[in-house]
Amino acid sequence: MGGRRALIILYLAYSATCMDQLNIRFEWRQLDYQFTSPEARQQAIDNKNFIPKNNIPMGIEIFEEKLFLTVPRWRSGVPASLNYVNLKDNSTTSPKLMPYPSWAAHATGLDGKPPEIISPFRVRADRCGRLWVLDNGKIGNLETSPTKYPPSIIVYDLKTDNLLRKYVIPADQVKEESGFVNIVIEDTDCQKTYAYAGDVGKAGIVVYSWDRNESWRISHHFFYPDPFACDFNVKGLNFSWTDAIFGMGISGPNSDGYSTLYFHPMASYNEFKVSTEYLRNVTVAENNFEAFQQLGTRGPNSQSSVSFLDQKTGVLFYSLVNLNAVACWKTSNREYLMKNQGRIYMNDETMVYPTDIKVDYNDNLWILSNKLPIWMYTDLNENEVNFRVFSAPVLEAISHTACDVTPRSDILDKFNRFGNKVKNVTNNIVSKLKPNSAVTCSSTSIGMLVLLSWFAFLVSN
Ligand SMILES: *[C@@H]1O[C@H](CO)[C@@H](O)[C@H](O)[C@H]1NC(C)=O
Ligand SMILES: *[C@@H]1O[C@H](CO)[C@@H](O)[C@H](O)[C@H]1NC(C)=O
Ligand SMILES: *[C@@H]1O[C@H](CO)[C@@H](O)[C@H](O)[C@H]1NC(C)=O
Ligand SMILES: *[C@@H]1O[C@H](CO)[C@@H](O)[C@H](O)[C@H]1NC(C)=O
Ligand SMILES: *[C@@H]1O[C@H](CO)[C@@H](O)[C@H](O)[C@H]1NC(C)=O
Repeated sequence: MGGRRALIILYLAYSATCMDQLNIRFEWRQLDYQFTSPEARQQAIDNKNFIPKNNIPMGIEIFEEKLFLTVPRWRSGVPASLNYVNLKDNSTTSPKLMPYPSWAAHATGLDGKPPEIISPFRVRADRCGRLWVLDNGKIGNLETSPTKYPPSIIVYDLKTDNLLRKYVIPADQVKEESGFVNIVIEDTDCQKTYAYAGDVGKAGIVVYSWDRNESWRISHHFFYPDPFACDFNVKGLNFSWTDAIFGMGISGPNSDGYSTLYFHPMASYNEFKVSTEYLRNVTVAENNFEAFQQLGTRGPNSQSSVSFLDQKTGVLFYSLVNLNAVACWKTSNREYLMKNQGRIYMNDETMVYPTDIKVDYNDNLWILSNKLPIWMYTDLNENEVNFRVFSAPVLEAISHTACDVTPRSDILDKFNRFGNKVKNVTNNIVSKLKPNSAVTCSSTSIGMLVLLSWFAFLVSN
């Protein structure tokens, strides 16, 4: 009956905007760096080591007072591809980036030796105080003659900023089309830690064991792009992307000690999951095809790039690139249904291409948006804000959404489970809902949401 067709849009559009409770913490028209002196900056501009318009922030991470920002070397003129800004310095909302761990780590040797860090897209600070940098290894891959170095996993000690390890991914685990851009860390045990690096170019996951200092490559058809989900439309720009496995979110340990990895290809409308038991050993993975499971689908136009699982609340946050939105799903829900998807933020100006999502160790949600398709296919307007970092406490961000973890939302969920009774009890629910102090949602908008939940539930069945 085609009821599913525009479901995710319907859902998000009618979720009241009063739920969009993120603050813009930083914003930039163009990125600039904290060079050692004004002369050094001018020199970098003169010799084209710094071409401001070629610098776009792709990944964020937060650890203590540092907000990390990656700037991949997609084009030339990127002086440092991993940087940070000091969260304690609130003298400006457009701070200059400081290279991490140093300028030296980003410098090409006089002998032409590549820098220690070449071109990371996303990084992850684990709970053991290590920063994991997934280095894609490519320089200028949007230009005519790219340079390719082997991708690697680089790990720093966040207390001392010392390099702990640089592990080059073995050649037999890297394919011609490979692109390593997303990484999640299973850090239940700080010694027996596993890193999962997604290969967006050639569908696969490279698993690295910190303990054994070795890696292996896992394949599965669920990692592949869906040929019917490759068309994107962002701010009127149409383009085709065939990106494979992209968004990954990892749970805390289950009762058997393994975590669950939630994942989706970017060119896809589906969400999948697998226990890390099946990723930690190639033979076990190959013999247990069915251990990889489809959770459900979000419907057309719902392609998602990054995702992040907040282990405390069990909420999986994910981007919706065509909708300029970030949404969520509570992993404690048994079903991945439309009515269980919550809207975190949607905005056609400020949330154009949400490119990274993280939750820090103080339970704050962080989102970076960067207008990537516009930067890639046309030009950014340097007179307007192009890059934004949003933030809010997780509990505020999910409050009054389907991902709310307070008892209030349990009421909603309970009634939703009885589908056809929802309409009858709507007024009842509305009268029971007490908007929390941080928001001023009108009860009509919540009533509207409940009605739509019910409607969507019916058409999706
Ligand atoms: C910076 O932030 C701190 C804490 O958030 C606040 O106390 C202080 O007033 C702020 N300073 C400025 C200049 O805004
Ligand atoms: C890890 O293995 C690589 C070779 O794959 C080796 O070069 C490196 O020294 C090893 N690191 C440690 C800490 O054992
Ligand atoms: C872009 O795609 C949309 C549908 O996805 C279509 O309606 C529109 O005509 C396309 N625009 C161009 C310029 O091709
Ligand atoms: C992987 O699993 C197989 C089959 O259970 C087992 O024989 C093998 O020793 C395991 N390999 C590693 C490296 O643990
Ligand atoms: C709706 O509620 C009314 C009274 O509150 C009751 O009479 C009616 O049977 C209910 N309808 C359904 C479908 O539960």
